[in-house]
Amino acid sequence: MIRVTGLVKEFAGGSVRAVDEVSFEVPTGELVTLLGPSGCGKTTSLRCVAGLEEPTYGRIEIDDRVVFDAARNIAVPPNKRRIGMVFQSYAIWPHMTVFGNVAYPLRTAKMKKREIHERVMASLELVGLADLAPRGAPNLSGGQQQRVALARALVAEPEVLLLDEPLSNLDAKLREQMRQEIREIQQRLGITTLYVTHDQIEALAISDIVGVMSGGKIVDFGSPERIYRAPKSRFVAQFIGVANVIAVNDVRPASENGSLQGATQMGSMSFHPDEAATPTGGQTAVLVRLEDVEVSRERPTADRNVWRGRVISVLFLGTHLDCILDVNGHRLRAQAARRTKLEVGEEVWVQIRPDHATALCDDVAGDGTGARPAKPTQTVPSAVAGAA
Ligand SMILES: Nc1ncnc2c1ncn2[C@@H]1O[C@H](COP(=O)(O)OP(=O)(O)OP(=O)(O)O)[C@@H](O)[C@H]1O
Ligand SMILES: [Mg+2]
Repeated sequence: MIRVTGLVKEFAGGSVRAVDEVSFEVPTGELVTLLGPSGCGKTTSLRCVAGLEEPTYGRIEIDDRVVFDAARNIAVPPNKRRIGMVFQSYAIWPHMTVFGNVAYPLRTAKMKKREIHERVMASLELVGLADLAPRGAPNLSGGQQQRVALARALVAEPEVLLLDEPLSNLDAKLREQMRQEIREIQQRLGITTLYVTHDQIEALAISDIVGVMSGGKIVDFGSPERIYRAPKSRFVAQFIGVANVIAVNDVRPASENGSLQGATQMGSMSFHPDEAATPTGGQTAVLVRLEDVEVSRERPTADRNVWRGRVISVLFLGTHLDCILDVNGHRLRAQAARRTKLEVGEEVWVQIRPDHATALCDDVAGDGTGARPAKPTQTVPSAVAGAA
């Protein structure tokens, strides 16, 4: 377990607050990703956990040990924190062999030769590089170098693994393959892992929990599925994938259990409240993912959330069509199946199932902050202090 409480890191004499009151927990054996745009404080948070950066305020625990506590003047040095770390630049030593690189942390810890050999080979086996042990490190592909870095991070059997954009030097295909491998290894070892990336798809693919960061704060924290389906703010919704954000006025309870209804430019619309119970009577914004806008030539049988629309543009993207529809003057973006063969100018039916339309809490202003009262979540209560 990694528990971070009230973490603040200021630079330049307090003029830059890179990390601003961040609290979250990585449950034992799980992989939590900090995701966010460049400069939002991901690396700084990770370096604080590693002990490479001294926080200005806050507390950091790894399993049952407090490794940093500003209030109690505790700061365990990095090499005593029992962490393994992989950086964006793999930082493997070119003058050593693959074996030498992975053995390095054990040699500095003065371990016996035979044990070093066993551990290094087991670690190389884990990342599928045992055959390359004698090879010089520079004669490796990017993916292989990345694996060496991972083997080196794991060889001392750390309690937690910290990874900062470990795949960003690889091309798209290899990145996809390696993220799967990292996830498999992480799950096989059951090692508690904190992962940093700015790549949304990577975060969704690899994580048990995603923490979305913006401006030094955690603005959403939850399972990939929840973050994608019901993000806590417009910022999160638009950072994670593409979505329609539809303004809704005159919000009131719908007749069905728990759902809401309101007026949009398209017409009356039923939708799901967000977990914090959207206030009725006012206005809100509703999120609809592109793949949840259903486009058809035949009139759908449903009696709610069905409208007439006109196709304004269609892009063929291989797996699907990306189209813009005009629905009573509202521009709705949709992902249609290839076989629909939509044409520009065509009149179509558009359907959005109410459970695929989720209110974006009280982010009516659309300022991206997702500002709202803190509310405990079930997974990780401490995560919310930073999410407020
Ligand atoms: N040593 C430093 N001195 C001053 N400012 C710093 C220092 N390190 C980081 N910062 C600032 O802190 C903020 C957060 O930086 P950080 O490296 O944590 O961002 P990041 O989320 O990892 O971004 P990226 O995706 O580009 O790696 C940035 O505004 C950065 O300029
Ligand atoms: Mg970074």
